[in-house]
Amino acid sequence: MVLFGLFIFAPVVYVIAAGHPVIKIRDSPISLQIAARLNVTGAANLVQVTKALQSSKTVKVAAGIFASDRRIGVPATNAAVLYTANVEVGSPSTSYTLIVDTGSSNTWIGASKQYTPTNSSKSTNETVAVSYGSGFFVSIIYDTVTLGRACIRQSIGVADFSIGFNGLDGILGLGPDDLTNGTLSPNNTKIIPTITDVCYIQSREVGISFEPTNSLSITNGEMSFGGADERKYTGRITYAPLTSTSPANEYFGIDQRITYGRSSLILTHTAGIVDTGTTLVLLASDALKTYQNATGAVFDDETGLLRLTTEQFDNLKSLFFHIGNAVFEFTANAQAWPRSLNGMINGSPDAVYLIINDLGTETGQGLDFVNGYVFLERFYSVFDSRKQRVGFATTPYTYAETN
Ligand SMILES: *[C@@H]1O[C@H](CO)[C@@H](O)[C@H](O)[C@H]1NC(C)=O
Ligand SMILES: *[C@@H]1O[C@H](CO)[C@@H](O)[C@H](O)[C@H]1NC(C)=O
Ligand SMILES: *[C@@H]1O[C@H](CO)[C@@H](O)[C@H](O)[C@H]1NC(C)=O
Ligand SMILES: *[C@@H]1O[C@H](CO)[C@@H](O)[C@H](O)[C@H]1NC(C)=O
Ligand SMILES: *[C@@H]1O[C@H](CO)[C@@H](O)[C@H](O)[C@H]1NC(C)=O
Ligand SMILES: *[C@@H]1O[C@H](CO)[C@@H](O)[C@H](O)[C@H]1NC(C)=O
Repeated sequence: MVLFGLFIFAPVVYVIAAGHPVIKIRDSPISLQIAARLNVTGAANLVQVTKALQSSKTVKVAAGIFASDRRIGVPATNAAVLYTANVEVGSPSTSYTLIVDTGSSNTWIGASKQYTPTNSSKSTNETVAVSYGSGFFVSIIYDTVTLGRACIRQSIGVADFSIGFNGLDGILGLGPDDLTNGTLSPNNTKIIPTITDVCYIQSREVGISFEPTNSLSITNGEMSFGGADERKYTGRITYAPLTSTSPANEYFGIDQRITYGRSSLILTHTAGIVDTGTTLVLLASDALKTYQNATGAVFDDETGLLRLTTEQFDNLKSLFFHIGNAVFEFTANAQAWPRSLNGMINGSPDAVYLIINDLGTETGQGLDFVNGYVFLERFYSVFDSRKQRVGFATTPYTYAETN
């Protein structure tokens, strides 16, 4: 899911394109570079991003967009920290900068750069409903999408109108295709194939590599379609089956337990999701309180994050994520917001802010954590829709001191 400001689309009607996509893939896997863009435009942005999730759990995801939080009035200019990839659409093609999102499954463009139909595009009579508030729509077109060297025919959404994207063009939805059920109109029960489905019917795997980032803009990530890129991780990939617990099972959901240090229980064995479209690691409120107590952190109103003194930070223990048969160590440095960027979140230069935050609901709701991309910056991840599993592996950055 992408937690990111306010999105509005105007209704439109289009012409449908029937038939199945033509796939032209030569070598596999293909990879696409991912850029990190940090743009936290002021205080409370991360809080808003977090709060937006609270209202979102009851909302069926459509086009990767969650409710902007009306209760706290997210400004249209809200921008957070996110990862983007450039995707070529059309023939001749235009490049679009899309947010990489494993927490949603609709791919759409048109937010900033206007989409102009080319002679490879066909419009459809379908729309995607963005089901928050009174509902907004994205039209569906069918066009050539180029990923790396590979070229596919894919249905994608084109937003007619949107605000809050600041140079971004839309979302690359890499979540399970089931998540598109209920988003399309007029056929509300039809599944829209995702790029992963169309691109790699055999493997339907996407490997994602992020690195810890402490500068405003850098291209240091990679997405590989069709399998993991062994150059990007160390050791082996350990897979965990997708959870059966609802509603986490609609996403790339897994079961995990978290301890502070080796044994102090923070989050009981429970279901949640792995999501490149969420910035922070979010825990159910009761689990976060336990973590806060264990670390001695205080809530900082300015940033909306937990804050530690440097002395407390020196004593901060690792968190251990127990997933499947493996344990992933999330070091003290991994738990800290990059200090060189404290200014961006209205933080004080001397404090340490933690990137573990509040999901806003108590445990037992079927979606009790979100392992956002600050988690994925420390572990290589593989999203496998065919075998219904998510894999993690250590990387050269797992224990890096970057923070
Ligand atoms: C789309 O709708 C238009 C207008 O209702 C209609 O003329 C056209 O045949 C439809 N196209 C398809 C492919 O259904
Ligand atoms: C950050 O976002 C603001 C608006 O929210 C925008 O004006 C500015 O250009 C953005 N900066 C970067 C570096 O993207
Ligand atoms: C697409 O249209 C352009 C002109 O806009 C033309 O030059 C080109 O040959 C066309 N390509 C195909 C495959 O029809
Ligand atoms: C979509 O969801 C509906 C309601 O849950 C279900 O009846 C339908 O079978 C689903 N569609 C597909 C193609 O799985
Ligand atoms: C809607 O989509 C579902 C799943 O693809 C299909 O089984 C059903 O026949 C479609 N219904 C209509 C009215 O086209
Ligand atoms: C907070 O931590 C202390 C030990 O550091 C423990 O004795 C106490 O029970 C904890 N309180 C809660 C509410 O977890």
